[in-house]
Formats: sequence, structure tokens, C-alpha cells
Amino acid sequence: MKKESTQLSLLETGVNTQEKALPEIEKKASLAAASSAVRRGLEESALPPEGQERTDAAVQARMRALCAALEHHNYLYHTLDAPEISDDEYDALYRELTALEADFPQWVDPHSPTRRVGGALLGGLAKKRHRRRMYGLDNVFSADEWRDFVERMRRALPDAPTAFWCDPKLDGLALEIVYEDGELREALTRGDGEEGEVVTEAVRTIRTVPLRLQGEGPFPRRLEVRGEVVMFKKDFAELNARREALGQKLLANPRNAASGALRQLDTTATRQLPLRFLAYSTGEADWTPASPCISQHDLMERLIAYGFLTPPDGRLCASPAAVEEYTTWVREHRQDFPMEIDGAVAKQDNLEAQEALGFTARAPRFAVAFKFPAEQVRTVLRRIDIQVGRTGALTPVAVLDPVPVGGVMVSRATLHNEDEIHAKDVRVGDTVIVQRAGDVIPEVVGPVLDLRPADAVPFDFPHVCPICHEKAHRPEGEAVWRCENVSCPAVRLQAIRHFVSKSGLNIVGVGEKLVTQLVESGRVVSPADLFTLTPLELVHYDRMGESLAQRTVDALEEARHTATLARLISSLGIRHVGEQTARLLASAFADMDALAAADEETLCALPDVGPEVASSILGFFDTPANKQLLERFRELGLWPVRAEESAAADAPRPLEGVTVLFTGTLSMPRGRAKQLAEAAGAVVLGSVSKKLQYLVVGDDPGSKLDKAQKLGIAVLDEAGFLNLLQGSGDVQDTAPDAGEESVSNR
Ligand code: IVH
Repeated sequence: MKKESTQLSLLETGVNTQEKALPEIEKKASLAAASSAVRRGLEESALPPEGQERTDAAVQARMRALCAALEHHNYLYHTLDAPEISDDEYDALYRELTALEADFPQWVDPHSPTRRVGGALLGGLAKKRHRRRMYGLDNVFSADEWRDFVERMRRALPDAPTAFWCDPKLDGLALEIVYEDGELREALTRGDGEEGEVVTEAVRTIRTVPLRLQGEGPFPRRLEVRGEVVMFKKDFAELNARREALGQKLLANPRNAASGALRQLDTTATRQLPLRFLAYSTGEADWTPASPCISQHDLMERLIAYGFLTPPDGRLCASPAAVEEYTTWVREHRQDFPMEIDGAVAKQDNLEAQEALGFTARAPRFAVAFKFPAEQVRTVLRRIDIQVGRTGALTPVAVLDPVPVGGVMVSRATLHNEDEIHAKDVRVGDTVIVQRAGDVIPEVVGPVLDLRPADAVPFDFPHVCPICHEKAHRPEGEAVWRCENVSCPAVRLQAIRHFVSKSGLNIVGVGEKLVTQLVESGRVVSPADLFTLTPLELVHYDRMGESLAQRTVDALEEARHTATLARLISSLGIRHVGEQTARLLASAFADMDALAAADEETLCALPDVGPEVASSILGFFDTPANKQLLERFRELGLWPVRAEESAAADAPRPLEGVTVLFTGTLSMPRGRAKQLAEAAGAVVLGSVSKKLQYLVVGDDPGSKLDKAQKLGIAVLDEAGFLNLLQGSGDVQDTAPDAGEESVSNR
């Protein structure tokens, strides 16, 4: 690939394929021409100073010149990463255009760059069918499987040409943008492939999306450009650093960040996120008969000429062998790509052959994805910390020399529990293999025994809580040690964090930092204490001004008055009682008194409650400290009664459309796990296939686990699954270092 590429490119690839570079030189020449046209347009349209007479035509010409100039500089800056003017100069042009548009609203161009600003949409996102289905891709995992694919293609179309267009497989969010006569009309997410969500306004705010196709035309009557919305790794890191400084929750990974941003109803928020769209194919495309599009690489050249960013280092490989070389190269350079990639895609280059090959029920016969396995890296295990969760669970966390794994810096990884540490024989000082697949919590796979230092120390799992130093317990048959001291500061802090969190009363404004300060200062010992805070005392805490202190107290007051029974039950953090079960209980009992009085039989008669959940509920209401807490809630007037609406009506469905499969022995009956998943909107599959997104494993998982790992499917343990149910997917991988659930002993 040539280095003077105007598009993104890695270093020299050294891949000796008969590749065809995109027409970069021509593009450069046309860019230089566009830059001077823009400059000339601005000079020639300069208006007389304000106060002097300006003709309508002159104002319109100026507005057009400003639009063209801003779009051009947007493209140089965001798509090509090669700005020609300073931010100040850009801002001056932008301000001039906004001022004119305010004075002359009748002449505002609907595609004006000022329209990239976004705003709030009312209601949810509308859905719309794709004119042509957006298919997924079949995967191959080895050279043999690739050769089989080529063989199948040959059988289906004996004279199919052997050249393939290849590019990296971007791990983002697939999108279709519809242009009519060169103008952006509409944008849809992939959705289920048949029907997507309309995200036109959010997509307009993405600066690498041309609002109007570049060039002279004539443009296709309708052109559906397909591609991926991604966030570059560096942008993602900066974004999270900013969020951390502001005390906001960290985003799990660039893909989640991109997907969340795009689906924001208030696109002002989308605009603030550094999203990019990279185009790689089309849906319906009415190329003019005078210039039919004949090949994938021809298509890529056109997309670039229209002003789109395309996947970096795409190339034409002349033979199946060249494709193998290319994919090996991409795999080896995976880390160096600016965005997360999870494979490479090979597409039959000839569009006529593509058409002739067509699709199976799932995927095209003319293209295939080389999927890379979960990324594994080596690093040194320096220490094992014990974190104490809300329920008192002691979780061992590996403290590692920081390493990037799949685009995210990992310095801590879960070791799950005592048995895992022994089974894997992981010792402090070991070089260990760490892996992270998709959204799954980074984990230690095992030690590299050859590199074990002589003084590597086996880990003695502590039998006391690292925070309160009370004895911990590990019940027969369970894998987890637990601190059962109800007044353990760590347990308390987590309990209060949970109380105000989204899964609790959802008191926006009482963030984790504030809770930590309040608990550490001893001012807040139980959740009930929160409701006795006054603005006067709050101003003494960090980053609290008078108005923020007042708003915090107002938020607490509001929560006290509006909390529903379901929320209050969920906020108590009773083990095994998440939002789902809390809603069920709230629909079955009139108030907290009725729930507290229920016996095991009554509880177990409920559809979602087994003996384990029942015993946890009984244990909670039997604990004196909890009885006291409820009395204080009653005195404070925080005593909601059963809501009229049914439990299911307002249930959020955090797993809508997600596919899961259970294997091995879970702590709950399989049927219940299934029920929970389905109630959250998930589809429970019967076997492992490429369609599967999450395999949830219990003890003795067997062959399904092997197969899923081979397919690169995300594997979760039961806790991970429950986290997913709680809709906590936007938290930093629910990794132990996210500070969400645990307190470290550091
Ligand atoms: S070409 C007919 N190229 O991966 C399908 N797809 O797992 C043509 N994807 O939904 C798609 N990077 O959205 C193509 N360089 C790339 C891609 C890519 C990511 C997505 C695509 C698809 C998914 C399949």
C-alpha cells in the first residue's frame, strides 16, 4: 500500500500480493483543486461590512460558499486527518454562517454543516425495514476452512474470478446511510438485518459522514452506503480519561461507546463523541448505465471519491493464497490498527459474480470473515487483591503489569474464587496469560510455567475480611468466601452505593465519589442517613457548591417521595434479589411489612423464587440491623405500597434480541435461568452456533464450552450473566477495577 495514502493506512505491509492501490494521486490532485475552489469561493463572496447594503443574491452566495468551505474543512480534518486551517479560522467561518442563518432562515440549506449539531428527539427511535437485508458474515477460523469456502464458491460458480477485495473486520456498529441524488436522506442501524432503527439525526452529527456526496455527479438516484460506526482506540481512551476526571462511569469498550452514542435520543450527546463512519459496501445502488460499478475495488474507489472514510489497508488480493497472506498480516498487526478489529473480510471482487453467488439464509456466499480468537497477552502477576462486594463476597483480583488487550489497557483481571486460583495454579510473580473476548471481564487464563521464578509464591486465600478483619465464611458446597459482618465498612459502602445506583433508587446526583466521602467521614452509616443530609453540611464536601448541595438534597427528597416498592426492594441489595425479582415481589406483596412477614412456603410459591432466594429474603428480614433500617425508612416516610401496574409492564429488557445458551450446572435450575433471560428479552438457543452471542457456563460445562471458544463466542459465568441481566453492560466490563461492586484492600 502506498504511503502517501490520504486514507488511513498502517506502515508498509510487506505483503506481496498483486494489490491495487486506490487512486490516491488523483484524489490528492482533486483535493488541491477543491481547496483552491473553496478559497476562491470565500474570496469572491465576501460581503460588504455590516450596515452597508447587501443584496439577497450576495447573501445567498456567501451562505453557499461558507457551507462548502466548512464541509471541505470538516472532511480534511475528520476524514483525512489533514486540516488546512486552524480551529480559530474554522470557528470564525462557522460563526459567520450561523449568524447569517439566524438572519435569513428562509435560505438555510437543509444540509448545512450547522445541521450537524443535533438536538433532542422526542419519543423512541422509529424502526424501518431495509430495502435489502443487511446480512451477517460466515466465519472461517483456519486456512483449511478458507480453502473450503473457496471450493464451495467454485462449485457454485465454476468460472468465478479468483480475486478478492480484503479489508479488516471492524468491531463497531453496522449502519446504512441512504443518499438520494447525492444528498443524505436517512440512516438506519442494522437491527436484526431486516429492520433497523432510524438514526438519521445522530448520524448527521458524525463528521466523517458526507452530508452531500463529493464530486460533480451525476450521482445514483439512490445509493445505500453501508459501513461501520467505530470509535478509535485513542479517542476512546481520551473519552474515558475525561469521564474519569468528571467522576462519570467508564465505558466498557469502543464498540459499546459507539453503539450507545448512536442510539442516544438526544443527539447533542452524540455530537460530543468522537465517532467515525467507515464505508465498506452498499445495499441498493442505482449506478447510472453510463458508469456501472463493476467490482468491489471500483466501489471502494467511488466511496473514497464521494468523501467516505474506508477501512484502513483494504486491498485487492489476486488469489486465495494472497488472501491468506493478507489475513495473516492483519492478524499480526491487529494491535496497530487505530480501531478495534476482530478479523478480516474477504469479498469476491467481481460484482457480477457476487450477484450470481447470492446469499444463504444467513450470509453471502461471496464473502467471508476470518475471525481472530480472543486476544491473549502475557504479563506479570504482581499481587492478588481481595475485593469485598456488596453481599460480602471476597473476590480475588490479579494485579498485573498493565498491558493492552484488545485495545483496552488491563491492569486488573478477575481470578473468580479460591478454587480457580488453585485449579489454575497461579502464583504471585508468575508470568500469566490474560485474555479478553468481546465484553467479557478480563481474566487470567493461567501461568506460563516455563517462566515461573523460583520464588513465585502460591496464594493463601485469606479467611478474614481484608477490610473489617472479621472472620469470613465459605459455606459447604459454595466457591465463595464471604464477610458476613453487616457493619463491615466495605459491605456498607457497597450497600449504599447500590442503594443510590440505577438498580436501586436511581438517585441521580448522588454519585459514587460523594457516597465514598460520606461513608468514609462516618456521616452516613446506613442508607437512611442519606435522607437526613442538609445542604449546609454538604457544602463541606469536595466539589460541592451551594447549588449542587441543594440539588443533591432535592434529588434525595424526590426519591423519598417517588420510590416504588419494586425499587425499594431492589435497593436493599438482598442477595439473589435483583431488579427483576424485586418487581415480582412488589407485585405479590402489598408493602414491605407483607414481604417481611412472608414465610418460605409463600415465597417459594412465586414463579421466580426458589429455596435459595427465599432463604436469602428470610435471612435479610431476620437480621436485626436490617429490621432497624426498615423502621427508619418507615419513620422517614419512605414506605411505598404496591403499584397498580403489573410487574412486567415496565420491565426494562436489557437483553432484547441477544442470544444466550446455558451449559453446565448453574446455582439455579436451568429453567429459571431461561425464564430470567427471556424476561429480559433474550433468545435462548438450543446449541452452540455462530448465532450465539453469550454462552453462560456453570460447573462441568463439557463440549459446548470448547465449541464456543473455538467460535470466539463470549463466555460468561453465572455472575456475569446476572450482571448482564441487570443491564450493567455499560460498566467497564464489570471488571473488578471499575470500583462498581467492590472495595479493594489496598
Ligand atoms: S462486508 C454482505 N466488510 O461484520 C456483507 N462487513 O459479522 C458485506 N463488518 O454485519 C459486509 N467489518 O456489518 C464487511 N470490512 C468489513 C466489515 C464488515 C465489519 C460487519 C458487517 C456485518 C458483520 C458480520
